Amino acid sequence: MGRFLVTLAAATAVVACSVATMVVRRRMKGRRKWRKVVGILKDLEEACETPLGRLRQMVDAIAVEMQAGLVSEGGSKLKMLLTFVDDLPNGCERGTYYALHLGGSYFRIIRVHLGGQRSTLEVQDIERHSIPTTLMNSTSEVLFDFLASSLQMFIEKEGNMFNLAQPVKRELAFTFSFPVKQTSLSSGVLIKWTKGFAISEMAGEDIAECLQGALNKRGLDIRVAALVNDTVGALSFGHFHDPDTIAAVVFGTGSNACYLERTDAIIKCQNPRTTSGSMVVNMEWGNFWSSRLPRTSYDIELDAESMNSNDMGFEKMIGGMYLGDIVRRVILRMSQESDIFGPISSILSTPFILRTNSVSAMHEDDTPELLEVARILKDLGVSEVPLKVRKLVVKICDVVTRRAARLAAAGIAGILKKVGRDGSGGGRRSDKQIMRRTVVAVEGGLYLNYRMFREYMDEALRDVLGEDVAQHVVVKAMEDGSSIGSALLLASSQSVQTIQSV
Ligand code: BGC
Repeated sequence: MGRFLVTLAAATAVVACSVATMVVRRRMKGRRKWRKVVGILKDLEEACETPLGRLRQMVDAIAVEMQAGLVSEGGSKLKMLLTFVDDLPNGCERGTYYALHLGGSYFRIIRVHLGGQRSTLEVQDIERHSIPTTLMNSTSEVLFDFLASSLQMFIEKEGNMFNLAQPVKRELAFTFSFPVKQTSLSSGVLIKWTKGFAISEMAGEDIAECLQGALNKRGLDIRVAALVNDTVGALSFGHFHDPDTIAAVVFGTGSNACYLERTDAIIKCQNPRTTSGSMVVNMEWGNFWSSRLPRTSYDIELDAESMNSNDMGFEKMIGGMYLGDIVRRVILRMSQESDIFGPISSILSTPFILRTNSVSAMHEDDTPELLEVARILKDLGVSEVPLKVRKLVVKICDVVTRRAARLAAAGIAGILKKVGRDGSGGGRRSDKQIMRRTVVAVEGGLYLNYRMFREYMDEALRDVLGEDVAQHVVVKAMEDGSSIGSALLLASSQSVQTIQSV
């Protein structure tokens, strides 16, 4: 009996020992995996760093590239496109105008009425629709017929609301959020598609003509009288309300900026023929590139797998279309290298499945248990992750968005530097003391709807400019500014108004 007890005690000790060893091993393995993902996060943070010194280098690089792009065609990654817009709306416009805006993920149709004073601007109707993804890879006929039919429905809804005895010709501004080489205010050819659009055989086509053709086919008496980049629309809207507005930036699915430049600085254009002595230049800054940009392995992979690799490098770091996918790639890498997210989810492996609005929802989740993060991860096929893993995901969103916002701020400061409104006087000593009030109009869902992006960007702009200068710079957010502004621009370019009687 005694021997039996001894044996039993020994056996129990052995079992206890091996269980303890297993527990310890499992814990160590767990810790190793945790250390691994923390290491991945740390690498990401380092690669995304944007200290003030680096931002200032970006500011200088952008200003230099802007200059190069103005000197010669193809002289820079920045296309610095002429827009043929010299007079911006000032509030005196009259009449009723339409705008159709093809953006990255939405299109809008609006009708505005202008009564000759700022306060009498009336947005009479506005429709917003998301763009069916099938359309992005369709044909030119399908795309333009879709736009024409949407416009037809919009017009049909009006009935005879203007009480006009005779039908009138409607004037339309086409806000087209893609790079176009303008040949006049109302015409221009597509340079290339961006933001996932891939309709073949359209580069080189006159975009306004394509839309006009589709409208004519449907028998619509509408004239495409202006072809406007969305940034230029936003600048027009900004200027209409505040004449100190000299630049506009879009932070949406894609990103871009335009600004008012002196015509004598646009050296590549021999005869710009403007009355005001300045012209709006569409920078197409999404294509900006510098070896000093804080690029990660995720950016490199994203670019390599994109439809337009080696192109639009800046946009792929700051555009709303891409931020979600960068975050997704980081989570995927972590889940491949450790099992803290459970078995690898096939959903998570799908490009662009994580949208930037989900990133902002996770980033700004203020529930103590991070329930929004848990919900979004579940949609991605990752369920039941502990709180510390959810916190890790929030951190990833923070790092990716903060980098984007700070780079965006450097972009704006680059424009201010180029036009001598950054406090350095643009090389002219006399300007150094007089800082003029400068307004930058900002449009796009990323800025308007993602509070953390907005806060990081505003903060970085203040840091880069310094308080003394920053107090003279106003960043003004404007919803639907691109669409409304295009109609305003059209109005200001017309001497004869249509539909006056409303
Ligand atoms: C386009 C620009 C546009 C920007 C914002 C970019 O992808 O190239 O023309 O202004 O997106 O919509």
